[in-house]
Amino acid sequence: MKVCIVGASGKLGKYMVQHALDRGYEVVGVCRPASVEKLDAFKGRIAVIPGATNDREVIRKAVAGCGGVLAVLAPWGVQQYSSGTAQAVLDYSPPGARLAFSCGWHITRDGLDRYSWKLRAIVAVFGGLARLTRFADLDDQVEACRRIFASSTRWTVVRGSDLAEGESEGLPVWSRHVGDPILKSNRTRRIDFALFMVAALENDALVHETPAIVGCRTPSALAHQAAREAAT
Ligand SMILES: NC(=O)c1ccc[n+]([C@@H]2O[C@H](COP(=O)([O-])OP(=O)(O)OC[C@H]3O[C@@H](n4cnc5c(N)ncnc54)[C@H](OP(=O)(O)O)[C@@H]3O)[C@@H](O)[C@H]2O)c1
Repeated sequence: MKVCIVGASGKLGKYMVQHALDRGYEVVGVCRPASVEKLDAFKGRIAVIPGATNDREVIRKAVAGCGGVLAVLAPWGVQQYSSGTAQAVLDYSPPGARLAFSCGWHITRDGLDRYSWKLRAIVAVFGGLARLTRFADLDDQVEACRRIFASSTRWTVVRGSDLAEGESEGLPVWSRHVGDPILKSNRTRRIDFALFMVAALENDALVHETPAIVGCRTPSALAHQAAREAAT
């Protein structure tokens, strides 16, 4: 399968490139022209299309012929970066392609997520300051997801917990709502966030889902598993 990775040069993007290559996918990466060299380690093994990820012409070219598209939704700047990227991916991905978008727990689809005061405070303070300084626009990531949720394409929106670096622990576990006990540890290795994104391409059970993920070796994930085993 040919897979396009939009935002390939970022931390999450590079992990996704490696996982996609490990699975034998043909990879096309999109990243800002200034970031192309961040992909040097993959030279000769992937095609790179330089350009802003919300440039519709860049995305149209990059997703042509792809069976899967993995898109990093980043709220940077105030030029509709997330919503422009999402809209271009929705508009130009081949019919039937599997699409997976990354974002954080702060995105809610049905309003049934239950957030800690800490997360609410971070979103309020960071969101306000970032918009004021024109550094980032969290509301644009919300708008991007609103458009994805309204789309009839075969999408998955993967909601990452707080992230950490380190070796893979395995495929994260997930739940539909933030606040569910399994997610309590709020920690996922970034390499495993990428693994979940890539694995979602071949998991039809995740079509039209917004999984909130957490590391499979975290205390809350292990406690959930132990409780399930005790019940059977
Ligand atoms: N960081 C966290 O703790 C956290 C927690 C939960 C979920 N997430 C989600 O995980 C995903 C990846 O986040 P990450 O923190 O790991 O970052 P990341 O992978 O490093 O991704 C950042 C992306 O934004 C691009 N970017 C950076 N500055 C930019 C700018 N000024 N204008 C346009 N693009 C810019 C980067 O491209 P270049 O390579 O060109 O710079 C890269 O593609 C995001 O969807 C985020 O919402 C993150």
